[in-house]
Amino acid sequence: AFIINQGYSQIILNKQNIENTLNEAFDKFKDLKEGNNADYIKELANVDPNIFGIALVTAEGAVYTKGDITSMVSIQSISKVFTMAKVIEQEGPQFLEDKIGVNATGLPFNSIVAVEMHKGDKINPLVNPGAIATTSLVRGNDSIAKWKEIEKIQSAFAGRQLSINRPVYISEAGDNLRNQAIAHLLLAYNRIYFDPVQTTDIYTKQCALNVNVKDLATMAATLANGGVNPVTKNKVVSQTTVMYTLPVMATAGLYDNSGIWLFNSGLPAKSGVGGGILAVCPGKFGIAVISPPLDKTGNSLKAQKVIQYVVEKLKANPY
Ligand code: DON
Repeated sequence: AFIINQGYSQIILNKQNIENTLNEAFDKFKDLKEGNNADYIKELANVDPNIFGIALVTAEGAVYTKGDITSMVSIQSISKVFTMAKVIEQEGPQFLEDKIGVNATGLPFNSIVAVEMHKGDKINPLVNPGAIATTSLVRGNDSIAKWKEIEKIQSAFAGRQLSINRPVYISEAGDNLRNQAIAHLLLAYNRIYFDPVQTTDIYTKQCALNVNVKDLATMAATLANGGVNPVTKNKVVSQTTVMYTLPVMATAGLYDNSGIWLFNSGLPAKSGVGGGILAVCPGKFGIAVISPPLDKTGNSLKAQKVIQYVVEKLKANPY
């Protein structure tokens, strides 16, 4: 018979190999100085650009780390994955496809044109307009109840109670006119499902949740493990929800650079302008890196390089 000798068939996930690979990746990229912190949210410009941590959590719950694992950054857009997963879990995948859309926009994450082009149809849950609309769909009678649900799901994925980075929240809340405009434009097209001002505020809080690199890797590992957090062993979402979450990450997780990312890594991933990126190797592991300096599309430069290096070394590209 024809032997398929590709993808997972060669993955080597023993302790020694993982530890060596993380050490090598750290040393190889630690001195890379390119990129800049996001500064359109003023507080993000003040974050130490030298924070650099790597974490890998296996689907069995083994945790490997290298570098800075204590510093916290705001989760930003990475939160969009887990709020989307909550909506899929509650309402099913068809609902998400109908009420939001799941095609990549191919445009920058804060694009207003992306909304206008299809009159609010065909937005995407992992970039701002679709993410704001997704936040509006989380169940709850008022904004406090909706926020509680979001805080709960994000924390369940991380395996600990997450809390808000107040300076980042206040900074962005005072300055998020563009997101408010997006929310109102969505309202004009009947494509936001709760009060636009309150929804934008909940969304801004969600983006300001503080995480360290181990939190992010655990969130990714929960997706790698079919929705069960491999560290706490709690079932966070169903396997079906994971099945519909990962493809959206694969096609739109790194904004308008998602195609290049998938081409080079083969893994569904999500980035945030706080400097984190997480990626999911289904059935195997979740990996995350925090390093605040970003490339022009808003993705952490070092995080992309480290994850691609690790994927190649561990032979973790499923394709
Ligand atoms: O709404 C914003 O611009 C930020 N709170 C999040 C942006 C981000 O990380 C990239 N978005 N996909």
